[in-house]
Amino acid sequence: QLEELEKEVLTCRRCGLRAGCQQMVFGEGGPGLLVIGEGPGADEDRLGRPFVGAAGQLLDKILAAGGFDRKTNAYIANVVKCRPPYNRVPTAQECAACLPHLRAQLEILKPKIVLLLGATALHAVLQTSEGITRARGIWQEREGVYYLPTYHPAALLRDPRKKIDVWKDIQSLVAKYREVVDPGHTSPYC
Ligand code: URA
Repeated sequence: QLEELEKEVLTCRRCGLRAGCQQMVFGEGGPGLLVIGEGPGADEDRLGRPFVGAAGQLLDKILAAGGFDRKTNAYIANVVKCRPPYNRVPTAQECAACLPHLRAQLEILKPKIVLLLGATALHAVLQTSEGITRARGIWQEREGVYYLPTYHPAALLRDPRKKIDVWKDIQSLVAKYREVVDPGHTSPYC
């Protein structure tokens, strides 16, 4: 199903981003937790995989601390599938144009828990204008799915003081995952 959808998205020209990037970055991982970022950067655009640059390496470490990885129990996707030029934040129109693809991924993966990385993911997925600083760490339930907004790993690279809050969010994520997905979930640190 995901492969079918990926083929469909390959031909998407709903916004102008595809014309300015090298390739569409669909997403990757396994069933369990869904992690949603903003959009591909230069490394992701070159390799066709999400979160493979500096922010991606930090994301892998953060997820690993909670017992998650993209090979087994976490799927990594982005709000927009094509790299915005100069890594600018995707516009509301670009996010809206791409959102049906993400919704289709959600429909197939049927995650019970979704981790939203940064303001773009928070705004696009939950259709809110709340700031990430206020919203982070607070679970929001929509139609039986639990969403947890947290800081984007790129924000942690710019301001390492935010790491303590993300650590709290990961502990909360692990607790919720044990509650609603897998009581036997193990993680090295919490
Ligand atoms: N930042 C994102 O939001 N997504 C990626 O895939 C990489 C960096």
